[in-house]
Amino acid sequence: MRTILFNSPLRSRKYIKNVKKLLDSNKSLHGPGKNIFNIKKNLKSKFGFDHVHLTTSCTASMEICALLLNLKKNDEVLIPSYGYNTSASSFVRTGCKIKYCDIEKTKLMPSFEQIKKKINKKTKVIVVFHMQGLAVDYLDQLQKYCKTQKIYLIEDAAQALGSYHKKKPLGSYGDFACFSFHETKNFHSGMGGLLVINNKKFKRKSDLVFDKGTDRTLVVSNPNYFKKYYSWVEIGSCFRMPELNASYLSFQINDIEKLIKYRSLLYKRYIKNFSNWLKDEFNICNKPTYKYNYHQLTIILKKREREKFLKFLKKNKIIAFIGLEALHLSKMGKKFLPKNTKLKNTDDIIKKIVRLPIHNNLKLKEVDIICDKIKEYFKVY
Ligand SMILES: Cc1ncc(COP(=O)(O)O)c(C=O)c1O
Repeated sequence: MRTILFNSPLRSRKYIKNVKKLLDSNKSLHGPGKNIFNIKKNLKSKFGFDHVHLTTSCTASMEICALLLNLKKNDEVLIPSYGYNTSASSFVRTGCKIKYCDIEKTKLMPSFEQIKKKINKKTKVIVVFHMQGLAVDYLDQLQKYCKTQKIYLIEDAAQALGSYHKKKPLGSYGDFACFSFHETKNFHSGMGGLLVINNKKFKRKSDLVFDKGTDRTLVVSNPNYFKKYYSWVEIGSCFRMPELNASYLSFQINDIEKLIKYRSLLYKRYIKNFSNWLKDEFNICNKPTYKYNYHQLTIILKKREREKFLKFLKKNKIIAFIGLEALHLSKMGKKFLPKNTKLKNTDDIIKKIVRLPIHNNLKLKEVDIICDKIKEYFKVY
């Protein structure tokens, strides 16, 4: 039996052929070219994302947000304790403060009450993390709340392209939304990202920050622009996704529905296999209410036996993974946790979280093998 991998980046002849086509053509590998334009067009028609930047990573997208908001020393950014480190570091490096919010044990995301308790006059930004590609069930209320409190809402939607809250796609609720096209995601360009700008106020400035802090795009694409040569006009950086990376991603964006459909079959096969005995040994924490991209299947063990469980699977040629480390427990992240502050739920649950393999190269019969082995581990016969 071949080793069943936790993740295996999406690969297809069609995507490789498109990269080759670009390389063979004499066209710019830097871009923007046909592939970048195709992705943008598709994102608009499929999800209504109007003003977007294709970036080098979700991290880069978050860094653009931090530069756009220009926060001051005492301004606070609220982020979930169980989140991704660059959502925190993007703001830390601009000199403002970050504050952690505990999570709900079963959903691995904060409840609305937990968020409200942490907010004060200094809170300028809330980063909401769509854990496993699923949103909190109060996302629309949070959006309204942030508007009334004059707090910017940023969606860390790294894992969430193709998922919805109610009838609207994730990525359309925040002032900004940051997505990842890293090769561990459903759709990828090796490394890559997307920034969706929903708050009109920041559209123009984002064009400048994105393009090394210059007005190059305006000079090149707008014949009526008042300058002939571009120059340095904002603090920015080199955030652009190269056309070369976009050439691998482009057809995947055409295929989003088809690719998600296959992941949904894998997810449903797990659920069916587990259905009779699930509750006693572990919980599945992502049960979708709305249209879902089936990015992950995460389980929470009842006991703190994760290492033993992972070791057993590995011995049986199945690679599972631990998910994220809690930010406030990391070497760097703990510096931002005030003394005597406890994040009880995160602390309790962190050693019980396991992500099972789910990716487009996984076979349905491999899901059966994984489930049989898990049954064997828990001695369920
Ligand atoms: C929730 C979350 N945010 C941000 C990132 C960072 O994405 P990237 O590698 O594209 O910067 C990841 C990557 O795994 C993630 O899972």
